[in-house]
Amino acid sequence: MRDRKILITGGAGFIGSHMVAKLHEENDVTVFDNLSTGNYEFIKNYKVKFINRDITNFEDIKSAMKDIDLVFHFAANPDVRKGEKDSNVDLKQNVMGTFNVLESMRLNDVEDIIFSSSSTVYGEAPIPTREDFGPLEPISFYGASKLAGEAYISSFSHIFGIKGISFRFANVIGPRGTHGVIYDFINKLKRNNNELEILGDGTQSKSYLYIDDCISGMVYLFEKDTKKYDEFNLGTEELTNVMDIAKIVVKTMGLKNVKFRTTGGIEGRGWKGDIKTMLLSIEKAKSFGWKPKYSSSEAVELAAKNLVEELLWK
Ligand SMILES: NC(=O)c1ccc[n+]([C@@H]2O[C@H](COP(=O)([O-])OP(=O)(O)OC[C@H]3O[C@@H](n4cnc5c(N)ncnc54)[C@H](O)[C@@H]3O)[C@@H](O)[C@H]2O)c1
Repeated sequence: MRDRKILITGGAGFIGSHMVAKLHEENDVTVFDNLSTGNYEFIKNYKVKFINRDITNFEDIKSAMKDIDLVFHFAANPDVRKGEKDSNVDLKQNVMGTFNVLESMRLNDVEDIIFSSSSTVYGEAPIPTREDFGPLEPISFYGASKLAGEAYISSFSHIFGIKGISFRFANVIGPRGTHGVIYDFINKLKRNNNELEILGDGTQSKSYLYIDDCISGMVYLFEKDTKKYDEFNLGTEELTNVMDIAKIVVKTMGLKNVKFRTTGGIEGRGWKGDIKTMLLSIEKAKSFGWKPKYSSSEAVELAAKNLVEELLWK
């Protein structure tokens, strides 16, 4: 991807800032971020224009869209758990935010959008879950908001000719991570290195994708795919369970004799809306020639190293 005028919403966040790193040298990149969970430090050394604004403000996103020809849309509430406490947040940030991005694209004749969707759109689905699995019955407001985002992109594509791809990510992990199980465990162990609280029963099993594979997958598949609107799963082909992640984090931090305390949760879930087992089929992406470099357990080990280095001395 080169010589494009790119707007990256949420570009100061975890995934967004890695996309900025990949694209800033050969493209004209603008980051649009309200820094609610992102960090300007992540992008300060890259050649980008930075707009510190909120996608829920339509006029702001509309004026940022001028002269843009491609959008990576990452800005969102990224935390599935937030919806339990605030049932509005996903509707406002993720559904209305995505609508504002699309509507401002339409008004500025912007042609392409790449969207960060999620495995949560499937709800409790048989594994490995293929893109054509249905019915899609999310069990969290977050999952519902990502599904709505996809539906709006598909509709804008059909009605106004926008080219869109929704990427349904597994759990993406790596340096600059701002949330998620590895990040939580490290922070908990920093506060108390004798005991680690594990939400749920520890048997929740999911597939983890290293950030470099996530970035390469999005760019590669966007360039290969010729459909007007499409969706792809992006993940790895193995499961890693939460108890194993706890052990890897403890080992990476050089700790010994840490007592694990599971909260049990409802049906062993970490929180309401937590999917107990998630494994995405990546056959479709593989048929286009993409596959991840790291397995799920390699991704967890690498990300644990990255995040221990980043978070331990903060
Ligand atoms: N990390 C994962 O495992 C994962 C999995 C599936 C989907 N996603 C999606 O990928 C995207 C990026 O996630 P991430 O893990 O990098 O999280 P993140 O919190 O690091 O990034 C989100 C960024 O968006 C910004 N932002 C949030 N609301 C905004 C608003 N209203 N206006 C402008 N900026 C706003 C934040 O400041 C942050 O920089 C999100 O849409 C998330 O839902 C992430």
